[in-house]
Amino acid sequence: MPHLTIPGTSEAHPIDACVFDAYGTLLDVHSALASVLEARGGGSVIGEDKAKSLSNLWRDKQLAYSWLRSLMRHHADFASVTADALDFALSAHGLDGDPTLRTELLAAYEKLAPYPEVPGVLDRLARTGLPLAVLSNGTPAMLEAGLAHAGIAGHLTAILSVEEIGVFKPTPEVYAIATRRLGRAAPRILFLSSNGWDVHGAASFGFTTIHVNRQASPPERLPGRPVHRLADLAPLPGLLGLAST
Ligand code: LAC
Repeated sequence: MPHLTIPGTSEAHPIDACVFDAYGTLLDVHSALASVLEARGGGSVIGEDKAKSLSNLWRDKQLAYSWLRSLMRHHADFASVTADALDFALSAHGLDGDPTLRTELLAAYEKLAPYPEVPGVLDRLARTGLPLAVLSNGTPAMLEAGLAHAGIAGHLTAILSVEEIGVFKPTPEVYAIATRRLGRAAPRILFLSSNGWDVHGAASFGFTTIHVNRQASPPERLPGRPVHRLADLAPLPGLLGLAST
């Protein structure tokens, strides 16, 4: 069974399962706008800076609405939250008069591109027999369609959605879905996310965690601590003691 080498220790930490966040970690949330603009004839349609700002605000509001709805105990599923956040972002950029853009962006969100190294890394890990799962805010329908479109659903033994309990990450009960459904103790689950707050939520719950720090963000000042920070998932097989092929 694979084990994780933890920096500063000589111990090989046994890992019984890998659990991945979906959006931003396996699937590139910014590929939605990129693909819509490409289909419309290139970035010049709304300009590169405005496009970047729109995509970033859409993502930031989506996450903020998920946290706020959990605090307010007023749940709506992630598809609704994603549409609400898009409406805010379009409005903030003066683009709410383009309903076709809204429709195209929401459709594109169901067909996000995986990050380039993701299919190969999941394939390498899956060949060891290590159970691989996704634990995400996404609805089961969003996740199943998105992960299948990205060509990675076949590597996953479980696709776990917060919709089982109707509250978003980083509520501890969300991470407990994985221990329960995978039947593994929290420290033997390796949880990987590009979202620093998600990594800390999972570590605070008791998972062994790795921050896939795609944005090169500084460390979060939150409870819990990742055992590794990686720029992307490519080094993961090596950290788990696996040869590269
Ligand atoms: C998810 C969000 C956090 O997939 O990206 O759960």
